[in-house]
Amino acid sequence: MSFDTIFDASYKRILSENKNGCGFFDAFYQRFLASDQHIAERFANTDMAIQQRMLKKSFYSLFAFYASGQADDAIRRIAEKHNQFNLNIKPEFYDLWLECLIATLKDYDDQFCDDIELAWRLVMTPGITYMKFKYDKRF
Ligand code: HEM
Repeated sequence: MSFDTIFDASYKRILSENKNGCGFFDAFYQRFLASDQHIAERFANTDMAIQQRMLKKSFYSLFAFYASGQADDAIRRIAEKHNQFNLNIKPEFYDLWLECLIATLKDYDDQFCDDIELAWRLVMTPGITYMKFKYDKRF
């Protein structure tokens, strides 16, 4: 089975999973905010329900970037928003973001295994690399 297929099947499972009224994206942000005080501070005034919906939507851009190798308008806009001239999200925070995502995946996908973890890392990494690369670039 290809990593695309493994990712798709896993993504469907985590979307339908609910733990004590808490969906995947909710659980991810709870973990991410608890992982570092600086991160919690960055989201202090954020409506987290809206934020969860935006992240969910941006997953399609990350997947499209992985699949096509081409940056569409959506991923360009997200990278610009996060770069040092706007939100100023330092590149090292993306590593923590990915680790929190994988830890949440482990809780939410009951079939979690090495291939699933690798599929997610492969799909997310091009988008993360793109966002880190654009940190100090003008658009
Ligand atoms: C690949 C990784 C990431 C993706 C796909 C992503 C996606 C998004 C999206 C779609 C938005 C909303 C943009 C808009 O308002 O138009 C957003 C906002 C934001 N993101 Fe990220 N993000 C990522 C990583 C990070 C990291 C590592 C941090 C570190 C703290 C971060 C902090 C923020 C903050 C502070 C906002 C603004 C929240 C607000 O409006 O109050 N993001 N992100």
